[in-house]
Amino acid sequence: MESIKAQRIPYSQIRVMFDAARKLEQQGKEIIHLEIGRPDFNTPQHIVEAAVEALRAGKHHYSQNAGVLELRQAIADKFAREYQLDYNPDSEIVVTNGVAEGVYVAINALLNPGDQVLIPDPSWLNYNVVALTNFVEPVGYRLSEENNFQPDPNQIEELITPRTKMIILVSPSNPLGSVINQKALERIAHLANKYDMVVLSDEIYEKIVYSPAQHVSIATLSGMRDRTLVMNGFSKFYSMTGWRIGYVMGPEGLVNPILRYHQYMITSTNTFAQWGAITALNGDQGPSYAMVEEFRKRRDYLYEAVNKIPGFTCTKPEGAFYLFPSVKET
Ligand SMILES: Cc1ncc(COP(=O)(O)O)c(C=O)c1O
Repeated sequence: MESIKAQRIPYSQIRVMFDAARKLEQQGKEIIHLEIGRPDFNTPQHIVEAAVEALRAGKHHYSQNAGVLELRQAIADKFAREYQLDYNPDSEIVVTNGVAEGVYVAINALLNPGDQVLIPDPSWLNYNVVALTNFVEPVGYRLSEENNFQPDPNQIEELITPRTKMIILVSPSNPLGSVINQKALERIAHLANKYDMVVLSDEIYEKIVYSPAQHVSIATLSGMRDRTLVMNGFSKFYSMTGWRIGYVMGPEGLVNPILRYHQYMITSTNTFAQWGAITALNGDQGPSYAMVEEFRKRRDYLYEAVNKIPGFTCTKPEGAFYLFPSVKET
């Protein structure tokens, strides 16, 4: 068994902690979960009702590989409405089993062994591990506190080699809570064009942003729509982590290879969950914004509280629901 590919895959330490916490809970201990990145709210009720209704209405069967067409249309409508970007629901959108699957399939489908992918450091651990399992080399670009956790385009340019095929952006960031500003995005867009890199833009926390910070999708910048894969999903803003619905959107030339992999891996995602997702996008956004407002209050409270702990310093997060305190002084 020594030589099998799975040997390259470490267990996720997030899950190790989560399982350990669950065991303590079973022993009756009270646990505050800080390990899994998920909202502690339930999915808004009208979304639940839509999925139940879909089950009652007999939506029990496989959907198209790329997902229920009505959902792909709702996704396309959202981007046209909010970003003035047009995507063809027939050929430029694939509904995935969460962004997790999107990342897995994109790296598998678009990169060859020996290619390099630029990954923010620190970041959600999937990008690194998925690259390693495919013999793709992960190359970290540093997000440092001194630079307000903004990517440094000069540093990124120094890391680029002829083998660099893709750069991953995560904004708002897990685990930093930072939001990449427009200036940095423009400079990264310039590098992507100059060095012909695909951009994988993980925008799962798109709507969990605290004013005055603003989310900008790099796909909206000049020349970027056709080299960017936007990944997004329902887990965070609609608190639907267990439904496992996400999507990948981009030009057909990048999305078609993803569909080829996806069809053999997943076939299609859960059909009635997709009907719930349609209602999430087209229905009342109020409960989700109320949740974001609650996260903002908690952010404000914790930011102050953590900064009062001797030896801890913390940059104020602009998005997502994470704090990334420095403990250097302890
Ligand atoms: C940055 C980021 N992307 C993607 C995911 C996973 O999303 P999904 O539930 O859609 O697979 C997470 C989950 O924590 C995340 O933090």
